[in-house]
Amino acid sequence: MKIAFAKPQVPAEGAVAVGVLEGRVLTPAAAALDAQSGGTLARAMAASRFEGKKEQTLTILAPAGLTVGRIVLVGLGKAAGLDALAAQAFGGTAVAQVATSGETALALAVDTVAGAPLDAAALAAHAAFGARLRAYRFDKYLTKEKKEDKPALKKLTVLTEPHAAAKTAFAALDKVADGVMLARDAVSEPANVIHPETLAEQAKQLAEIGVDVEVLGEKQMRKLGMGALLGVGQGSDRESQLVVMRWMGAADQDAAPVALVGKGVTFDTGGISIKPAAGMEEMKWDMAGSAAVIGTIKALAGRQARVNAVGVVGLVENMPSGSAQRPGDVVTSMSGQTIEVINTDAEGRLVLADALHYTKERFKPALIVDLATLTGAIVIALGNEQAGLFATDDTLAERIAAAGRAVGEPVWRLPLGEAYDKQLKSDIADMKNVGGREAGSITAAQFLKRFVGEVPWAHIDIAGVAWSKKDTATCPKGATAFGVRLLDRLVADHYEEG
Ligand code: BES
Ligand code: MN
Ligand code: ZN
Repeated sequence: MKIAFAKPQVPAEGAVAVGVLEGRVLTPAAAALDAQSGGTLARAMAASRFEGKKEQTLTILAPAGLTVGRIVLVGLGKAAGLDALAAQAFGGTAVAQVATSGETALALAVDTVAGAPLDAAALAAHAAFGARLRAYRFDKYLTKEKKEDKPALKKLTVLTEPHAAAKTAFAALDKVADGVMLARDAVSEPANVIHPETLAEQAKQLAEIGVDVEVLGEKQMRKLGMGALLGVGQGSDRESQLVVMRWMGAADQDAAPVALVGKGVTFDTGGISIKPAAGMEEMKWDMAGSAAVIGTIKALAGRQARVNAVGVVGLVENMPSGSAQRPGDVVTSMSGQTIEVINTDAEGRLVLADALHYTKERFKPALIVDLATLTGAIVIALGNEQAGLFATDDTLAERIAAAGRAVGEPVWRLPLGEAYDKQLKSDIADMKNVGGREAGSITAAQFLKRFVGEVPWAHIDIAGVAWSKKDTATCPKGATAFGVRLLDRLVADHYEEG
């Protein structure tokens, strides 16, 4: 879908979407269409239950007095609540209404709304961003889809008075969307296509936009002593990989970087502690943390963020086989700490143990944030609405929570503590990799904490939010790329120069 910005006009054809505030209050663009169509909009609203509430829609076909094919009224809710997320929802909702209607062009009319916290340029930019996010589709393997079921929408024009300013504001958001798309694609791909080497290949392509990318194979990781990560991958025919991406955008090249670390289990069978068959196919998205990290680095480089950022992802496939790690095995991590592997399905923490330690030692980062589809327990605790946040640093935790709220990727903080840590005690090694059923997400976080030393650190458990079973205003069901927008915003708000 091509996106353009232009000054307000009534399009000659295609679809046009306009916002309506709660209480059926037409925005100026909607009022203009209403006047030109002899009051069609007002009559259509009166004849329906459409009230202008958030995300409500009403489509009017072939309106009299106009040549456009359809007018889509999109509820905006109250003016005071018309923030970036509401503007994104406007764009996304309009696209969803029109995508498979047969229309090839959609115009989004965005005005200044009295009492709204954002000006027209920002509203327009976010409407375009939301439209692009919602237009995403992973359809490359659908060879028999009927033409009438495929979206025909090719062109989006955002109509707004400050169109040049809107276009400028959209440029950075467009780069963030590029990162989101990369992450969604990688997560959506099945595990026979995306495995450690092919995901590393995806990361390598970031070199084209100025990212320094290194890929470590098993031989190099063995030399570094990464026994925890390697143990997880040892049952797979695919070679484990550790990918290091560096975006050095700060004026001071020596400034300590922000480090982002991702769990990249390209398929999690559970290993010898094998998972039940039902739903196991979902474990293709057990690399969503790493996809979010790669996507974020793409966004930061794409918009030339003035920050030094390093992304480290541990990529492995967790398979049962004659060479697979067994329950009871003891592995030695790069940090020197030994781990009794009680359950081979608690593999993400083993991968992150070495990735975190390596990141801390090599880059001496200002902070580390890791993302991982780490525990089923977080889905029990928070469902599919919020990710779990754990942090050793209150300032960092608050910044992450605020960034999450701002971009619509909410996180909820859970505690860490000495008492939980005790659950990891092993009789024969420094720790075991599971802490029992109670507080499963917290003991997993405590495990990770043992590998980050004194660096301010936060862990985001995205197991419940990486994949959506339903459409939302800005994300069709499937891979969400949770974390890309949040991390990009975290950097933009707190770690960029000037
Ligand atoms: N990848 C899973 C966590 C997961 C579960 C993500 C469900 C999304 C949906 C992780 O590797 C895992 O298997 N965790 C185990 C840990 C347990 C063995 C201590 C879990 O949560 O059941
Ligand atoms: Mn597992
Ligand atoms: Zn896993």
